[in-house]
Amino acid sequence: MEQQVATFSGFGRHGISPETVHDEDARSNFMMDLYRHLGSQAGAGRRDVFEGRVKPAFVKEHGRAPKDRHEVRKAVKDDPYFQFWGHLRVLANQTLFYENSQTVERQLDTLIDKAKPGKPKGKLELDSNFEIPKYQAPFDMHWMPGSFFTETTKDDVAAGAMYDSGGLYVMTSGNLGPLGDGGAYSVINYLRENYPDFNPKRILDQGCTVGHNTLPFKDAWPDAEVIGLDIGAPVLRYAHARAESLGCDVTFTQQNAEHTKYDDESFDFVTSTMFLHETSRKAVHNIIAEGYRILKPGGLMLHLEQPPFRWFDDPFEQFVRDWDTHNNNEPFWGPMHDMDLAAVAVESGFKRKDIVEEMAPLIKPTKTDNYAEGPGAWYVFAAWKR
Ligand SMILES: C[S@@+](CC[C@H](N)C(=O)[O-])C[C@H]1O[C@@H](n2cnc3c(N)ncnc32)[C@H](O)[C@@H]1O
Repeated sequence: MEQQVATFSGFGRHGISPETVHDEDARSNFMMDLYRHLGSQAGAGRRDVFEGRVKPAFVKEHGRAPKDRHEVRKAVKDDPYFQFWGHLRVLANQTLFYENSQTVERQLDTLIDKAKPGKPKGKLELDSNFEIPKYQAPFDMHWMPGSFFTETTKDDVAAGAMYDSGGLYVMTSGNLGPLGDGGAYSVINYLRENYPDFNPKRILDQGCTVGHNTLPFKDAWPDAEVIGLDIGAPVLRYAHARAESLGCDVTFTQQNAEHTKYDDESFDFVTSTMFLHETSRKAVHNIIAEGYRILKPGGLMLHLEQPPFRWFDDPFEQFVRDWDTHNNNEPFWGPMHDMDLAAVAVESGFKRKDIVEEMAPLIKPTKTDNYAEGPGAWYVFAAWKR
């Protein structure tokens, strides 16, 4: 069946999402097309150029093909096609966030007002003395100005608004669904298929940002207490207001996932979506150890990511998958995808036999009541505490 091409009109609006005018929508549509093009035809062209031009030159010089992604990266560095593609891809992110920040800035006061719900169903816990982890502070993650935590005014929500409307939806060309919750619905689908009796009562979503992939857990298990945790106050304020406007009773809390305030053995399910790759190696060790500590016996830790490099024999495929590390202000992407998460989990107390690493289909929500399998798949890293 032919895939329908998403446009910005498909973005799932809610009570706190920034309003946009015609020209802003047109720009978002252009950016979605650009991301699609860079990811499909133009992206695939890199393989042709590598095989037809770069690799033969490398073989001529070294008497062998590049042996790993690092050699591929150095070999393509000066090739005009790779330079052109890379510049466009970086400019796409920088332009997206620049345009988006204009949209958010012009209505920031209104958004801040709207983010103060009258009688909330859920909770927002902020910590005015919170210290941003050192490894986060120096980077504008994937060129998002100020990353997820910078505040420039009282009760700031700008980072949340930027990531929600323009950021995630446009960058992923709508592939995660109108509400950007395709990650969580993929996890729920995976669990229902593989562990139909799993019925968690207390759930922690680590690195939740604006709660895109936190709210679906309340939808799947309405009696559960669901908590979204992040380091960034502006994304959490936005997450809370977004959840309220969508009628969802969850708690958002400002804490470091490496060492939380929760008791030992107090959660049934500790999870994350697209989170570990934005933390340092040391943080990944701490986050997995903390997950083990706060899980009840019988509980599950599950992280959703892209697969580790070692799953791919082809150095060029590894290079493509590593591009963001060196060009997209994602410094932890490569180191994290080089890690053996199972070994880290075993160090933390999990048993090897209780760890599963496999691919799960991407469930793309097409509209809020109609979920279908979409293009793509996720790497699931799951560990049961037994
Ligand atoms: C790519 S975003 C995650 C996206 C989100 N899970 C989703 O599904 O939309 C990474 C998030 O991790 C948060 N983060 C980074 N280090 C953290 C830490 N040590 N503890 C908690 N959150 C952290 C960042 O603030 C950011 O919001």
